[in-house]
Amino acid sequence: MDTILELRDVQKHFRRPDGVVQAMDGVSLRIGAGEFVAVQGPSGSGKTTLLMAAGVLMQPDSGVVVIAGEEPYKLSAEQRAGFRAAHIGFVFQQFHLVHYLNVLDNVLTAALALPADDAEERARGLIERFGLASRAGHVPSELSIGERQRAALARALLNRPKLLLADEPTGNLDEENGRLVLDCLAGFAKDGGAVLLVTHDPKAAGFSHRALRMENGKLAAG
Ligand SMILES: Nc1ncnc2c1ncn2[C@@H]1O[C@H](COP(=O)(O)OP(=O)(O)O)[C@@H](O)[C@H]1O
Ligand SMILES: [Mg+2]
Repeated sequence: MDTILELRDVQKHFRRPDGVVQAMDGVSLRIGAGEFVAVQGPSGSGKTTLLMAAGVLMQPDSGVVVIAGEEPYKLSAEQRAGFRAAHIGFVFQQFHLVHYLNVLDNVLTAALALPADDAEERARGLIERFGLASRAGHVPSELSIGERQRAALARALLNRPKLLLADEPTGNLDEENGRLVLDCLAGFAKDGGAVLLVTHDPKAAGFSHRALRMENGKLAAG
């Protein structure tokens, strides 16, 4: 199985008025193509920090991050942004849709960083696949919460990433919409992508191939 994401002994600390927090304390992790890994852990255990390190959004203090055979933190800031756009999709608890853009245009924002002639065709295909065809012209406030997260998923997948990173994507959803989103993540892995989901939702682990646990910045078997 091709390795898509590898972290080796990654450390990240934050300095705060009340002391130093070791948010990642020697984290090693490998996720292959077609694999769905869920990381559970309490609030403050370092899950979001792990996703930011894996998402090339935050340079670790030490350790190695390899994505699709490259070490993105060795790239320039500009190359890093291009690398992120080409290889990584993100989904968040709060959706982070642009409130004045309709669904189609929100999905197409992913193409701003990686323009392609067929971007709109792919966007429409994803919108259809996620059951949003009749909502393509709606702005987020005109969508249900579940529809908003599916629009965010379509945006995350527009550039055909190899790696999908999801931070509490079911945190704002009811059970049925949560299941739909987790099914989408599982489907992405089934199609050969790699998924790293961090959550404190115990049900989410049931959709993954491998469940791990984060505690005090350390990753262990679930
Ligand atoms: N930018 C930051 N500055 C200071 N402390 C931070 C920062 N980001 C995270 N932390 C701290 O690092 C720890 C891990 O945070 P986080 O990764 O957000 O945990 P989780 O996502 O599991 O709730 C927490 O103690 C948090 O307060
Ligand atoms: Mg978090």
